[in-house]
Amino acid sequence: MGTPVRHFLDLSDFSAGELRAILKAGEEIKTRRRTPAAAGDRLLEGKVIAMIFEQPSLRTRVSFDVGIRELGGSPMMVTGQEIELGERETIADTARVLSRYVDAIMIRMLDHDSVVEMAKYATVPVINGLTKRQHPCQVMADVMTFEERKGPIKGKRIAWTGDTNNVLTSWVHAAGRLDFELAIATPEELAPPPALIDWARKQGAKLSLTTRPEAAVEGADCVITDCWVSMGDEEGTRHNLLRPFQVDERLLGRAEKDAIFMHCLPASRGEEVTDAVMDGPQSAVFDEAENRLHAQKGILAWCFGAVAA
Ligand code: CP
Ligand code: NVA
Repeated sequence: MGTPVRHFLDLSDFSAGELRAILKAGEEIKTRRRTPAAAGDRLLEGKVIAMIFEQPSLRTRVSFDVGIRELGGSPMMVTGQEIELGERETIADTARVLSRYVDAIMIRMLDHDSVVEMAKYATVPVINGLTKRQHPCQVMADVMTFEERKGPIKGKRIAWTGDTNNVLTSWVHAAGRLDFELAIATPEELAPPPALIDWARKQGAKLSLTTRPEAAVEGADCVITDCWVSMGDEEGTRHNLLRPFQVDERLLGRAEKDAIFMHCLPASRGEEVTDAVMDGPQSAVFDEAENRLHAQKGILAWCFGAVAA
């Protein structure tokens, strides 16, 4: 039996040690960026990585493209529309064919099970670039950003206010591994599924759930939110339910004085977050966007066996 293919699909697949090793690799490559030592980081030389997008993207698309090039590889952009992903042939056959051409596949597709299916049949690494259920690359960049600003995340209090979505799910997975407190405020109608919470509690995650954003944010070292209508969601009553969960200066003021604000972007300014918070001194949102590039280099390094974990 050969070595198993290293897919990056779901943070809960990883141990704390593996997540730490991937983050460290990304941080080290970041430190060497634009120095002569970066020549040693060209670990994707001669490799082609397909990037499949069924949904729109700015950060994921550009940060993977730039990251792959900086590591010496060649990104290949494929839209779900041009290959009629999941329609023209099975996901399994798409995975088998792509594996004969390219060295890895980065995919953004709403249906999480299809991405898992892709990984099952691919003989090259598959990286989850966002599904309806999870956004693991984002949360790796978020943890990197938090630790750059505030030191080790272990023992810190992270507050989430707003919808239960893919980004929050990956944060819950991270809480199951990295030993921080995660205080989640959502409307009752949009609360995290019990199976996710049960999973986290079984891992020993320090999780609290509330419908009061003020309670979650109290004493937090970091306040996070995301859009009210994620890709693939119906608007329905979301705006009405989520309005009280907006991060404005008053809400952020209840967190620790030096707390940071994070948002994966794109942001709907004036909805889930005000301009004053987005552009204020506590906002880390553009460092967070930049760190997608660095964290994903760590992920690519791991997928290609350059990180021992
Ligand atoms: N945060 C994030 O994944 O952004 P994009 O949708 O623009 O890739
Ligand atoms: N929760 C958002 C994240 C976008 C990067 C969405 O899925 O649309």
